[in-house]
Amino acid sequence: MTVLERPQPRPGVLKIQAYVPGKSSAPGVAKVFKLSSNETPLGASPAAMEAYAAVGKHLEDYPDGASHDLRDAIGKALGLDPARIVCGAGSDDILNLIARAYLKDGDEAIHTTHGFLVYPIATLGAGATPVIAPEKDFTADVDAILAKVTERTKVVFLANPNNPTGTYIPFDEVKRLHAGLPKHVLLVIDAAYAEYVRRNDYESGIELVATSENVVMTRTFSKIHGLAAARVGWAYCPPDVAMVLNQIRSPFNVSGPGMAAAIASLKDSAHTDRAVLHNEEWRNWLTREIRALGIGVTESAANFVLLHFGEEKGRGANDADDFLSGRRIILRRTAAYGLPDALRLTVGLEADNRAVVEALGAFVRGEPA
Ligand SMILES: Cc1ncc(COP(=O)(O)O)c(C=O)c1O
Repeated sequence: MTVLERPQPRPGVLKIQAYVPGKSSAPGVAKVFKLSSNETPLGASPAAMEAYAAVGKHLEDYPDGASHDLRDAIGKALGLDPARIVCGAGSDDILNLIARAYLKDGDEAIHTTHGFLVYPIATLGAGATPVIAPEKDFTADVDAILAKVTERTKVVFLANPNNPTGTYIPFDEVKRLHAGLPKHVLLVIDAAYAEYVRRNDYESGIELVATSENVVMTRTFSKIHGLAAARVGWAYCPPDVAMVLNQIRSPFNVSGPGMAAAIASLKDSAHTDRAVLHNEEWRNWLTREIRALGIGVTESAANFVLLHFGEEKGRGANDADDFLSGRRIILRRTAAYGLPDALRLTVGLEADNRAVVEALGAFVRGEPA
C-alpha cells in the first residue's frame, strides 16, 4: 500500500479553476458604478426586504428544512406542482447537487464553449470530465452538443439564456436537443435569466420538465428578484430527480430570512414587471449606443450585454476595462469564459448606463482616462 503524506481529494478537484466573481470596487475610489455581476439595478422589492428583516429577528430558529411555504409560493406563482420543486442556497447549490447526484468518476458532462463557469466546477468536483461543445455566433449549437454525446455522457448543462453571452436558443431547439439525447442523460436547463426574456419563441423549460423524466430546470431569486445576497434558488424536476436531490441536499439548505424574502418578492409582481421593462429599454439602448461607437455587441435576451474589442495594442478589452475602472465603472472580464477580447456589461440605472456609454466613447476616441 502506498503511504500518502496527507489526505487526498478527488483528482478532479485539483483541476478546478476557482470561480472569480465580478469585481466590486476600483482602486482608490469610493463610489463605483458596479456593472459586473448581473445584479438588478432596481434592488430587491421593499416587501422582500421587510420580510427578510422580520425573520432576521429570530436568527436562533432553524428554517423549515423542506422549504414548504416557498415551494408552495413558487408553485402558485408559476402553476407548478410544489412536490417537484427543490430549493437551494442559490441555483449554484442545485447545480452542484445535480453534479454530485448524477456524475461519478469517468462520466462526462457537456456544456458549451462560453457556458456558465459553475458547470465545469461542479463537474470536476464530482470526479467527472467536462466536455465542451462549440458554439455558433456565441450561441449554443444543438448539433454540436449532440455530436459530443458518448456513452459516458450523463449530464448536459445548457444555460438559456447563457451567461456571459446573453444569447438563447428557441424552445424548438431545446426540444430538438432533448429529443436527440439518450433517455439516461439528464438535460439541465439553467434558466437563471428567464424572467428577463421577452421573445415569443422562448420557453424556460417548464413544459419539457413536466413531460419527461430527464429534464431539470433551475431558477434563481438572485437576478430579477434582486436577492443575490439571500442565496435562494430552486429547480423544477421530474419526481425521481426531486427525490434524489432531496436525499442529498443539506437538511436546512435555504435560510429562513431568504425564504421569507423570496415569498414576498413573488407577491410583488409590480416590482419584477418594472425590472423587466427597465431592462428591455436600457439593454436595447446600450446595444444601440455602443454599436454606434464601433464596438461589437452580441444581441442579448438577458440583463447584460457582451462587448467585443479588437486585439490592437491599447484598444483591447483589458485596456477598455482599465480605462473604465479609472472612471469608477466596473465591468466583468470574460477571459475565464474563453472570451479574452470581450467584457460583460450589466444593465444599470439610467445614470450608470449613460456613464458607461460616455466612457466607452472617450476610450474609442483615445481621450485620457
Ligand atoms: C447562468 C447562471 N446560472 C446560475 C447562476 C447562479 O446564480 P445563484 O447561485 O445566485 O442562483 C448564475 C449567476 O451568475 C448564472 O449566470
